[in-house]
Amino acid sequence: MTRDSESSQGSVEDSPSPDSVPQAEQPSHPDLAPFWVDPAQCGPPISWKEIFGNDHPVELEIGSGKGLFLTNAGTANPSHNYFGIELAKKYARKAAERIAKRKLLNVRMLAADARLFMARHVPDASLRAVHVYFPDPWWKKRHKKRRVFAEPLVKDIERALEPGGDLWVVTDVEEYFGVICELMASRPLFEDLETAEPRSPEHDQDYLTNFERKYRIEGRPIYRKHYRRS
Ligand SMILES: C[S@@+](CC[C@H](N)C(=O)[O-])C[C@H]1O[C@@H](n2cnc3c(N)ncnc32)[C@H](O)[C@@H]1O
Repeated sequence: MTRDSESSQGSVEDSPSPDSVPQAEQPSHPDLAPFWVDPAQCGPPISWKEIFGNDHPVELEIGSGKGLFLTNAGTANPSHNYFGIELAKKYARKAAERIAKRKLLNVRMLAADARLFMARHVPDASLRAVHVYFPDPWWKKRHKKRRVFAEPLVKDIERALEPGGDLWVVTDVEEYFGVICELMASRPLFEDLETAEPRSPEHDQDYLTNFERKYRIEGRPIYRKHYRRS
């Protein structure tokens, strides 16, 4: 998988119709139940309790790729629920297969456009945390509107996070990082917290995400932000 060429793991062209998250009559991957979530299970609004079968705090990841964050976080924190949204169906499926293989009952995967899903399906103050790791930079000027981390999503994150909830954003793109910092500085409800440098990995999968692993091994600079909503 590549990203620098703009091809990325998926594209907005792969995304569902802009009118809605598509509805499905039958589960599209019955072999991956309950880890694969079908749009028909998502409301609107989505009921986290129905999705996970419990009231545990919900953390949402936008653009999960092949799901390394979800599998690591879901394993490390069984008392939290993790919900990944990935636009590219083949990567969403790959992530769900990994989650299913590890029987991570606190993790779910949805193939959808996170911008639409956040706007239309996620209830107010229902999330403990939101994670956005290595969002596609869409280098070309005419493609910049495809960036997921933009004002509409930030407003939805602010609405959907519970008071005290966390937003984590990581990118290797300095210019995009500047845009992210500027956007967040205009949202007074968010406090900008210190971020620590990551510890050394203990094994090959001991990274935040697949892209983080690739870029740390390459020695690229990585820019990290942690915000808390008041
Ligand atoms: C550069 S990859 C990073 C994947 C993963 N977070 C990582 O760090 O390894 C960006 C991912 O975001 C996904 N993506 C792009 N736009 C999206 C959107 N609107 N909703 C959900 N996922 C999106 C892409 O399909 C791609 O898998």
